[in-house]
Amino acid sequence: MEERGQRSNRRLVLVPCPFQGHITPMLNLGSLLHSKGFSIVIAHTNFNHPDPSGFPNFTFASIPDCLPKDVLSSGDAAALFASLNTNCEGPLYQVLSDMVEKDGATENKISCVIYDTLMYSHYMKLPSMALRTGSISNQLVFSELPQLRKEGYFPSKEPMMQLIATILDIRTSSAILWNTADCLEKQLSNQLQKQYSVPFFLLGPLHKVAPASSTSILEEETDCLLWLDKQADDSVVYVSLGSMVSMDEGEFAETAWGLANSGQPFLWVVRPGSVRGSEWIELLPGGFKEATQETGCLVRWAPQKDVLAHRAVGGFWTHCGWNSTLESISEGVPMICRPCFMDQNVNARYLCHVWRVGLELEGDLDQKEIEQAVRRLMVEEEGKEMRLRAAAFKDQIELSIRKGGSSHAAIEELVNLIISL
Ligand code: UDX
Repeated sequence: MEERGQRSNRRLVLVPCPFQGHITPMLNLGSLLHSKGFSIVIAHTNFNHPDPSGFPNFTFASIPDCLPKDVLSSGDAAALFASLNTNCEGPLYQVLSDMVEKDGATENKISCVIYDTLMYSHYMKLPSMALRTGSISNQLVFSELPQLRKEGYFPSKEPMMQLIATILDIRTSSAILWNTADCLEKQLSNQLQKQYSVPFFLLGPLHKVAPASSTSILEEETDCLLWLDKQADDSVVYVSLGSMVSMDEGEFAETAWGLANSGQPFLWVVRPGSVRGSEWIELLPGGFKEATQETGCLVRWAPQKDVLAHRAVGGFWTHCGWNSTLESISEGVPMICRPCFMDQNVNARYLCHVWRVGLELEGDLDQKEIEQAVRRLMVEEEGKEMRLRAAAFKDQIELSIRKGGSSHAAIEELVNLIISL
């Protein structure tokens, strides 16, 4: 068996997809593998580039920028990912071949490229592994879509189907790495594994197994933790729709009054630009600030993992991105689920109907329904039961990442596979 100290000769090149929900798990995976002795290179686009300051032991290699402005502002995710891959393929190839050339006869060779499945370039026949940053349940749903579409049940656009096809296609990868845990998705993993000939590794939740470093692209407003310190246990609803979802002025006003009238303290992340037609919170309805001086705290971007781990936070209104889902379950926080697109809908279904740690807020946003949902989650018996179930998941997740746990074992197996490549 190779000694741990010798592994620093083994270089792993990680290729994240340049969006917050994808950068975070990839950087966490990098930290994890670095803690196992490997050298880590992050090959990243200039667009949405990660902050290297939290990762002094990594090498950051920039892929010269490749994204046309009109595609960036189009809001069409499928077109954006297609363009990202078409435009980045050449520059990424160059970055990798420069590295290979520099390596020359030295010991310090690239052992493996680990790429986000949305960054589906060719990797110069180097050994590779795919990181899926979403849930296995979602992948199973994706795998059924081409057939459903053929039968006329899923009238989706062609670029979207192409995107899904690339997510399902893992080309010549030696393994698929998942940011999930056995206690959540073991059965589904067994089911999906039948469709693939390469092994699966359920390594997550990666934010729990990796040594902590900030992976945020936006600056975190940490003062909100001081505000939380002043609130009672399990009393605060944390509201955040992740890094991509937006809303219009009407929805913003309904949300504002729903939260205000619930009477429950709330910490609300309004990401700059996420309310269409405004920079930040200019479109808040008149009277709202005065009405919520005592109960509300608004920020541009929060230290979400610390917020969810805070004793005062008792519920999370989320868009059900997979990172937010995992972060909430890992801290035993039940959810109000308001999915918007792609995997978020599947995650919401699992949260509400399988794991039963969330309730879904459906239809047009309406302040009365929001008020009611907050009460159901924060005050009523139904919410208390969800909190107990979420706490049980928290315990199971803690066990899975300790020695003897499933994620812990999967990480060791992955390390051995990388060494054997
Ligand atoms: C996107 C997709 O929307 C999501 O469905 C997919 O699963 C991953 O890619 P995003 O919308 O950003 O991700 O959601 P999510 O996966 O939840 O990731 C958001 C990340 O931003 C989380 O890690 C969260 O901790 C972080 N965050 C969010 C903050 O650090 N501060 C905030 O204020 C809000």
